[in-house]
Parts: sequence; C-alpha cells; structure tokens
Amino acid sequence: MPLVSMNAFLPQAKSEGFAVGQFNMNNLEFVQAIIEAGKEEQSPLIFGASEGAIRYMGLSNVVALAKVAAEESGLPVALHLDHGSSFEMVMKCIQAGFSSVMFDGSHYPFEENIRLTKKVVEAAHAVGVSVEGELGTIGGVEDDLEVADEDAMIADPDEAIRFWEETQVDALAIAVGTAHGMYQGEPQIRYDVIEKVSKQVDAPIVLHGGSGVPDESIKKAISLGVGKINVNTENQVASSKVIRQLLSEQPDLIDPRKYLGPAREAIKEVVKAKMRLFGSSNKAVKS
Ligand code: 13P
Repeated sequence: MPLVSMNAFLPQAKSEGFAVGQFNMNNLEFVQAIIEAGKEEQSPLIFGASEGAIRYMGLSNVVALAKVAAEESGLPVALHLDHGSSFEMVMKCIQAGFSSVMFDGSHYPFEENIRLTKKVVEAAHAVGVSVEGELGTIGGVEDDLEVADEDAMIADPDEAIRFWEETQVDALAIAVGTAHGMYQGEPQIRYDVIEKVSKQVDAPIVLHGGSGVPDESIKKAISLGVGKINVNTENQVASSKVIRQLLSEQPDLIDPRKYLGPAREAIKEVVKAKMRLFGSSNKAVKS
C-alpha cells in the first residue's frame, strides 16, 4: 500500500478505543524491525522521523525506506515528521513524500501557535497530508529539543480545546506529564486533562514520551482518549544493549550484520509488545 495519512486509521482508533504507535526511524534496521513487527501483528503504524533523524539519514532515504516498507507490507503506514519546527521544514517534507506532519509550535505564545498551526493545516490538508499540533511543553530530551523538568508545562485543557477548534489538527499532542527519554521514577500523568480535552475534541490525543510509561498507565490513557503514542527511547535502549553485549563478548566482531541483525530483532520485540499493549494488533485494514 502507498503511504497513507494518519486519517486512514486514527478516527477508527478513537472510536474503537485503541492507539496507533509512532515508532521513530533512526536507521535502516529500525525501519525493518518496525515494519516486520507491524506485519506480524497486522497493525497500522506510523514511522516518526525527527529533524535530527532526517539530517542523519538524508530526506530522500527516509522517504524511500518508508515507501518501500509500506508497499511491501500492504499495511496502512504513515510517514510522519516528528516535532517539525517551521512551516518551511513541513513543506520540504510534504514535497519529498511525507504523508503526515507534526508542527510543534508549543514554544510560541498561544495565539501565534494557533496562527502558525492553522497555516500548516491549510497547506497540508490541501494535499491530503494529516497534521499533529502541540500544546503545553513536553519535558525531556529528544534530538534538538531539550526541556528541563522545571520548564515542562501541562497543557491548559480549555486552551487545548480552543486550539483544536481553531486549527482542526488531526491529532492533538498535549503535555500531560510524560517526557521524552528515560524517566527517573514514574511519570505523573494528568488523566483529568486527557479526559476533559478528549471529550470536547474529535481528534485523538497524542501521548509523547511513551517509553517507560507503565502498561496500566498506557491502558488508562487510551481508555480516556489517547489514540497515538510515540515510542523511540525503548527501542534505542533495547538495541544498544544487544550491541554493547555482543561487542564486549566478542572483541573481534567486525561484521555490522552480526550485531545490527540481533539489535533489529530486539527492536522488533519491543514494537510488537507495544502494538499489543496499544490494542492496534489486527487493526490493519488492507487495500
Ligand atoms: P520516548 O523518548 O519516550 O520514546 O518518546 C518519543 C517521542 O515522544 C517522540 O516524539
């Protein structure tokens, strides 16, 4: 199947009460592991590509890899820009073949975030590309984005509802207490914020910082209206643990296939478990 917008599966996720995972691409092995997991679980999925990953892999490689994976798998797959920082970057990705974009205007004043996000939505929707917007400030570190705990800010539910009404984004990321990267202890999730916003907006809520969140918290968040969950760090941790162990046990190992292959397996297992937890297994609607 060609790449699809997130609207191919997010409305169903919200109405049926499951979530679709965004799994970030870091290299070829991540792409292969994520799509294999999707095939085994028959799950829709979202490839997330951050600006840092695009710089590392090259924009046309990112698009080519995602397209081939989607076409060969027959699954509904979206290629989504993660935390797009400008209108120009969003347009560059759409022109290159992305089927979905996030415009992260959360660091702008509220009215400016609405104005800029609306501009992105108008341009993206005109060519069938879905849009995720963000409100509040998600803590932690992800590539170029670094937000100290004291600067993380829970989204105001009334503002989030107005943001959605005005922008008509297809997925709404709101800061509810999760963070990018690894947690020290357990995240304190503001379920009340998820519930209040979700009841008033048609779009599913997006939970960033999905790594390391306890299973029960994930299930509760989904039951209240989270329909998209982002995961990257857990895949990085699982794959680098395998590589570290193999290279330390076998100092003569030089063939990258012999350590990247097992690392790929580790990523696949993490992704499969997330798909089951999110309830997206067997939800792939084939063309
Ligand atoms: P983690 O760092 O928790 O995996 O979150 C990834 C993410 O939210 C990407 O936007």
